[in-house]
Amino acid sequence: MSNQETILRLLIQAAPDYCSGEWLAQQLAISRPAVWKCIQRLQLSGHQIESRHYRGYRYLMSNQLSAPVIEQGLRDLPPFKLIVRSTVDSTNRDVKRLISQGVVTVPTVVIADTQTAGYGRSGRSFYSPGQTGIYLSIGLPINDQASFDAGLLTTSTAVVVAQTLQQLFKVPVALKWVNDVLVNQHKVVGILSEGTTDLETGQMDAVVIGIGINLTTAAFPDELVTKAGAVTTGTTDVTRNQVIQVLLHRFFTSYPTYQRGDFMAEYRRLSMVIGQSVTLASGQQTYQGRVLDIDDRGALVVQLTSGQVRHFTSGEITKVNLQTGGYRG
Ligand code: BTN
Repeated sequence: MSNQETILRLLIQAAPDYCSGEWLAQQLAISRPAVWKCIQRLQLSGHQIESRHYRGYRYLMSNQLSAPVIEQGLRDLPPFKLIVRSTVDSTNRDVKRLISQGVVTVPTVVIADTQTAGYGRSGRSFYSPGQTGIYLSIGLPINDQASFDAGLLTTSTAVVVAQTLQQLFKVPVALKWVNDVLVNQHKVVGILSEGTTDLETGQMDAVVIGIGINLTTAAFPDELVTKAGAVTTGTTDVTRNQVIQVLLHRFFTSYPTYQRGDFMAEYRRLSMVIGQSVTLASGQQTYQGRVLDIDDRGALVVQLTSGQVRHFTSGEITKVNLQTGGYRG
């Protein structure tokens, strides 16, 4: 670890208290001017560090993404790797590159401040401006294919994200099957799960779960204006690092038992489609009917207009004809 990184970690651990220049210099066995140089470099890279005569330095929490700040609250979790980048084409693609290099032996999380080519389902692009959103992908090695359950992992991730936003922002959150998260009837989170295959064995070797959150994004491109929204429109004291910390804590706590589906009752409670008339695209077909339920494996149970009841494990609800309210997503 470089001197700069060590100083950053020490300051974050001590925050909101000060660390004296002398103490930092002793910890690293370097001179006080060398400490000051590291502090200046950290400040230049966006970290807010206050410096005061006779007291020293202290870390001020900011909206700047920071791996040491995020890791601070996650020490009790099983090992995982965290990579924070300022910009990347897509965090999902980045994780897939790491998987193809064979370096994803433990769960690996890539987070970026901005994405230049973020994408969602059906090849749609995902708007990813800097500073106002969270773009995060979790790469999970799959050692036991038999117990892997894509439907339940996707639904459990939606619940984890919804609960994180409820906890930190006190906003009413709704889920639109399968994993769109809505606030005030606008989509604020998109989740995309992708599998990767080991070319030698032909078996699935990992899954990548990409999560894009419009946290405070205020302006959207024309085609998204009516559908997309932000979690919070006002100013907020909650930093992106805090959101990521809570989200990862909840995710990695629930991951070991997600196959049990204990969270499905909560998923159903948050669902805004149960009981509603919907239009559903699945495979090459479009269906219409009323959603009766979401079953214990996360499939959508629809009574089609023909009267037939079908369980859909994949697809996208393209229209919800709400009895009340004005959903636009
Ligand atoms: C969707 O709503 O269709 C899913 C959107 C998923 C977007 C996230 S942002 C982080 C990760 N990187 C990507 O390129 N996509 C996912």
